[in-house]
Amino acid sequence: MLFSLLLVWLTSASSWASQRVGHSGLDQTGANASTFWYENIKHNGISPFITNGKNWAVFRNVKDYGAKGDGTSDDTAAIQKAISTGDGPKLRNTGSYGATGQPAVVYFPAGTYLVKSTIKSAVGTVLMGNPTNRATLKAAPTFSGSYVIFGHDQLYSGLTGFYHGIKHLVIDSTSVAGSKILGLVEWGVSQNNILSNVMFDMPIGAAGHTGIVTPGMCSGLILNDLQFVGGAVGIALSATQYHLKSISFKNVATAVKITSLVQGTGQGLRFGSCSIGIDATSGGLGAFNLIDSSATNTSTLISSASSSNTFGSLVLENVLVDSSTVKVGGTTVLTGSIEPGVSWIRGNVYHANSTNPKPSNGQKMLTSRPQTLVNGTGFYHTVVPPTYAEYDIAQVINIKDVAKYPVAGDGTQDDTANIQAILNSAASGNKVVYFPYGTYLLSDTLLIPPGSRLVGEAWTQLSGTGAKFKDINNPTPIIKVGNPGDVGVAQMSDFVFTVADILPGAILVQVNMAGGDGKPGTVGFFNCHFRIGGALGSKTQTNCRTPQNCLAARLNLHLAATSSSYWENTWSWTADHDLDGSHTVYPGTLGGFLIEAAGNGTWILGSGVEHHVLYQVNIHNAKNVFIGLQQGEAAYWQGTGNTLLAPAPWSENLRPSDPDFSWCAATDAQCRMGLYQYITGSTNLNIYSSGFWNFVAGPSRAMCTSDCQNSAVLYGPNNTKMLVYGLSTINSRNMISESSGLNGSSIVGVATHAANSGSVFEAFGTGVVAAYFRNV
Ligand SMILES: *[C@@H]1O[C@H](CO)[C@@H](O)[C@H](O)[C@H]1NC(C)=O
Ligand SMILES: *[C@@H]1O[C@H](CO)[C@@H](O)[C@H](O)[C@H]1NC(C)=O
Ligand SMILES: *[C@@H]1O[C@H](CO)[C@@H](O)[C@H](O)[C@H]1NC(C)=O
Ligand SMILES: *[C@@H]1O[C@H](CO)[C@@H](O)[C@H](O)[C@H]1NC(C)=O
Ligand SMILES: *[C@@H]1O[C@H](CO)[C@@H](O)[C@H](O)[C@H]1NC(C)=O
Ligand SMILES: *[C@@H]1O[C@H](CO)[C@@H](O)[C@H](O)[C@H]1NC(C)=O
Ligand SMILES: *[C@@H]1O[C@H](CO)[C@@H](O)[C@H](O)[C@H]1NC(C)=O
Repeated sequence: MLFSLLLVWLTSASSWASQRVGHSGLDQTGANASTFWYENIKHNGISPFITNGKNWAVFRNVKDYGAKGDGTSDDTAAIQKAISTGDGPKLRNTGSYGATGQPAVVYFPAGTYLVKSTIKSAVGTVLMGNPTNRATLKAAPTFSGSYVIFGHDQLYSGLTGFYHGIKHLVIDSTSVAGSKILGLVEWGVSQNNILSNVMFDMPIGAAGHTGIVTPGMCSGLILNDLQFVGGAVGIALSATQYHLKSISFKNVATAVKITSLVQGTGQGLRFGSCSIGIDATSGGLGAFNLIDSSATNTSTLISSASSSNTFGSLVLENVLVDSSTVKVGGTTVLTGSIEPGVSWIRGNVYHANSTNPKPSNGQKMLTSRPQTLVNGTGFYHTVVPPTYAEYDIAQVINIKDVAKYPVAGDGTQDDTANIQAILNSAASGNKVVYFPYGTYLLSDTLLIPPGSRLVGEAWTQLSGTGAKFKDINNPTPIIKVGNPGDVGVAQMSDFVFTVADILPGAILVQVNMAGGDGKPGTVGFFNCHFRIGGALGSKTQTNCRTPQNCLAARLNLHLAATSSSYWENTWSWTADHDLDGSHTVYPGTLGGFLIEAAGNGTWILGSGVEHHVLYQVNIHNAKNVFIGLQQGEAAYWQGTGNTLLAPAPWSENLRPSDPDFSWCAATDAQCRMGLYQYITGSTNLNIYSSGFWNFVAGPSRAMCTSDCQNSAVLYGPNNTKMLVYGLSTINSRNMISESSGLNGSSIVGVATHAANSGSVFEAFGTGVVAAYFRNV
């Protein structure tokens, strides 16, 4: 059984990796390569909140800016012009429009675009090709510069590097001498970015080329559906966390080079003829999980430095190899595959009911995955993000181009009724609905009916407003995805969900639907993010002065009991700073994600949930949840010195699923801080990589120089089959606490920072747990 499984997997791995000249990348069955609806549809996006924004060019076809795409003309200046053109003499990369006022999709029709020096991106830019025939950006033999694409706006620090994208492209450095030190993409960015469906084509045997470089310890979430061929290094990581999903490496000397990484998961990595899969020998690895992956003709799968138990925690699960080894400190600690049903773990393990970590220096343990979360061969389901490239343009509706139902997306007009009418009609005809960039105001609940496929553009905003969402005692969804019991397609890509006002009764998105076809992603959300305040166009920015008078929203996301949904690349952000100006605001959103889905599975890959008051993620009476890399940060104004102690300012409006912090002493400001995770009454939870960070805390946002939060995670009563792999915290006294009753009664700090310290990141107050199992 195992042998035949291995054969099938290795065969498919090599066929995928051999796709060197196949430029489509994504599997778009039935696609017509000559037309991609997005290339030809009417482009009438606007930038609602800047002067003259109705005339702002969101869509920029590089050929309209003079690029030839013929493989021989120098297209450098034309591409840069397409990126940099602003309004009149003002350029986009001068900070003239704020971080959210200058959206641009710089589009490359199929072709080969020769570039001779670095292309510099700017905030709000998505560089994008045709998914059925990806354009190639080809570095000329005489290329000068350190990067082919400098992917983040140099006016912004990488830690505030949001709103950048690169997708459906091939980046080719095969003509440049392999000894030249060259990064194909500089990606020093944090959340709300996308790098997806890109091939990195580098000279085989090159001494100097690296596909993606992520410098600066920024806070990125996910890199997905990528292919690397040749080069010295595929991905060079120096970041707090990353989820690497569905990535193939063929003939890359070092596929992944980790200089610094506190938490990471690799899911669906395929190493073919590499010298080394993951190189963490420089000693900067906190914890890494490698799951559902394979290696062929790659002698070293992983090599990491050696020190204490918490240093370089590793988990391998369902990793099929022909002949690879894992090395720690130069010593081989594992040879061969780790078959499905087994976890190989190195680091501190909490098993049975232990309250003391058991160090494991590479131990196999029998573990399980819920049937609903995996496919027929035991791999967690993953989904290729849809592009609808297989749709003819006649099957796509531009929401701003329906004469009978005018929609403005201008941040002023109430678009609710007309959007609803168009969605209802599109769903019944199974059409795709395209929302050109803009801010679409919703004054009432918008129902996303079964049959919906909605596509935004460089993060189109859907923004709640009005009395309907102000009643603190009557929480109401702004966007409701189906009604309980509904089944069918509901997919959304490239949106930001937000609020235009202070709305204490708002739930930004509530999902009730399930696919009903047993396929994950039928109800799916790709590159969709949440933002509360922090930007132009919202009264949370102008009318909000303290968290007390700014109950900006109740919840970002509610996955209701009947729902089954797939989320990939999502950031739920209650703003801790202003992206466009210098207002100081501290919105007080009650919670990030409330997961009560109890049916056929929930998958969340690459999520960040930040700065909410009671919890970042609350999993309550849920079943069958897969989480692959979750990152969290508390509300920065909470902590020592803060007098608005959790559950304030929401004390009067709690629901039974909310933690009430009654386990904390009345004035304990380090205890009365938003939990990163609160789990009660749930079963079948498989979680890979949790990174919960306290960098600053309290009203003055003092740097945490020692533990400044009491408990990061609280596992309440009645949870069963909980498997948590790779959990790291920065400056939390208790990484994991358990309680036997609700609301923290009989709370016990189980995994303490003190018992799990000692990793290379200990200078930042890091604790690392390799695995934590309860009632498995
Ligand atoms: C693709 O679409 C174009 C334009 O509609 C059409 O002329 C062509 O025949 C189509 N090609 C295929 C393979 O269907
Ligand atoms: C194995 O990988 C090496 C590079 O690491 C390559 O030179 C060799 O051709 C590969 N062998 C096979 C059989 O693919
Ligand atoms: C752990 O504790 C639970 C609840 O007290 C109990 O049901 C279970 O049998 C214990 N498991 C082990 C392995 O001791
Ligand atoms: C399960 O998923 C893996 C990875 O995508 C794939 O190789 C395998 O064929 C799938 N198994 C089945 C039965 O579909
Ligand atoms: C799960 O899906 C199956 C069909 O695939 C359906 O019969 C069942 O009702 C679903 N369960 C839940 C709880 O939604
Ligand atoms: C826990 O707190 C919530 C919110 O205050 C409350 O509704 C619930 O009744 C409490 N449960 C217990 C057992 O105290
Ligand atoms: C745990 O589950 C049991 C059985 O369903 C129930 O009786 C008990 O009240 C639950 N405990 C809590 C604290 O919810």
